[in-house]
Amino acid sequence: MFIGNVEVKGLARLAPMAGISNAAYRIIARECGSALTTSEEIDATGLTRKNSKTRYDIAKYLPEEKPIALQILGSNAETLVPGAQWLQDRGADIIDLNMGCPVPKITKTGRGSAMMRDVKKTSEILKAMRKVITVPFTIKIRSGWDQEHLNAVEVSKMAEDIGVDAITVHPRTRAQRFTGLSTWDMIAQVVDAVSIPITGNGDVKSMSDARKMQMATGCQSVMIGRAAIGKPWIFDETFEDLSPEDKYDYQTRVIDRHMPLIMEHFPEKVGLIQMQRHLSWYAGGRDRVRSFRVELFATRTYDEARSVFDRYWESVNPAVSKQPHLVAV
Ligand SMILES: Cc1cc2nc3c(=O)[nH]c(=O)nc-3n(C[C@H](O)[C@H](O)[C@H](O)COP(=O)(O)O)c2cc1C
Repeated sequence: MFIGNVEVKGLARLAPMAGISNAAYRIIARECGSALTTSEEIDATGLTRKNSKTRYDIAKYLPEEKPIALQILGSNAETLVPGAQWLQDRGADIIDLNMGCPVPKITKTGRGSAMMRDVKKTSEILKAMRKVITVPFTIKIRSGWDQEHLNAVEVSKMAEDIGVDAITVHPRTRAQRFTGLSTWDMIAQVVDAVSIPITGNGDVKSMSDARKMQMATGCQSVMIGRAAIGKPWIFDETFEDLSPEDKYDYQTRVIDRHMPLIMEHFPEKVGLIQMQRHLSWYAGGRDRVRSFRVELFATRTYDEARSVFDRYWESVNPAVSKQPHLVAV
C-alpha cells in the first residue's frame, strides 16, 4: 500500500502507544517485520512552546526508522499547524493526527477522540493543517464518541474531501475506551465509503488475525498495539513455527538488541523505567514472573536491572530446564 508517495511494505505494523512505541521499540518492531511505524502521540502545545521533552525525547526518531510517521495531538489550528510544520521540518515522512485518544485528561481539552464530536470545527482544523503539510497527512480515528454518535464514516468522508491521504480506524467508541471487542464491521463501512487507503486496528493478536481483518474488512493495512507489547516477534510469520529452544534464542537476540538501544537513546532515569517495563513484558507468561518483577522494579541502575533479568532469563531457558539434574555425590 502507498500513503501518498510513501510505500508501506508489509501488511501489519506497530500501533502508536504512548510510553511504549518510542524510537528504541519501533526499531525492534521494524527489525522483527513491522511495516512503517508511527510515533507515540506528540503534544502540539509542547511543540509550539518549545518544550524540550516533547521536541527532543517524545518526537525523537532515528535515521534508520525512515520512512517514519510522526503523530501529533492537539485541539486547535493555532498549535496543530505550527506543530505539524515543526515535525515536517524535522523530517517526518508522514504526519498523523490523533483523533482517537479516549483518555479523559486528553478529551476534556478537546484533543484526541473529542475531535470527532464537532465535525465542522475539525474540518476547519484539517484544512488549515493540509495547507502547510506537504508530506502525506493521515488521521487515526475511533468509531465515534459513544454508541449514539457513531460517525467514523462521516468523519472519514470529510477528511478525504479535505485531502487527507489515509485513515486508521480503531472501531471502538471513546466511551468504550479499551473494553469490549472492536467492531470490525465499522472498518468495512469506512473502506466502502472512501477511496483512500484504510488501516484497520483493534484486537489483532497475530499475523493470521491481521489477514482475517484484511479479508473481513478490505482494509489495506493493519495496526497491532497491545498484542505487540513484549512480543515484537508477532510481526515475524516464521516465529510461531520455531521450536521452544529456537524461540528462546530469537527472544534473547531481540532483548540483547533492545536494551542497548534504550541505554543509548534515553537518559538513565527515564531509560531505567523503559528497561524495567520492557524486560517485565518480555518475561510475561513464564514461571515465577511475579517475584521476578518485584525484584526487577526494585533495581536502581541499568546494570542491576540487567543482571536481575539475566538470572531470571537463564532460569527459564528451555534448553537448560530440559537437562537432567546433576546430583552432587
Ligand atoms: C498504552 C497505550 C498507549 C496508546 N497510545 C496511543 C497513542 O499515543 N496514539 C494513538 O493513536 N493511539 C494510542 N493507543 C491506541 C493504540 O494505537 C490502538 O489503537 C489500540 O490499542 C487498539 O489496538 P490493539 O487492540 O491492537 O491494542 C494506545 C494504546 C495503549 C494500550
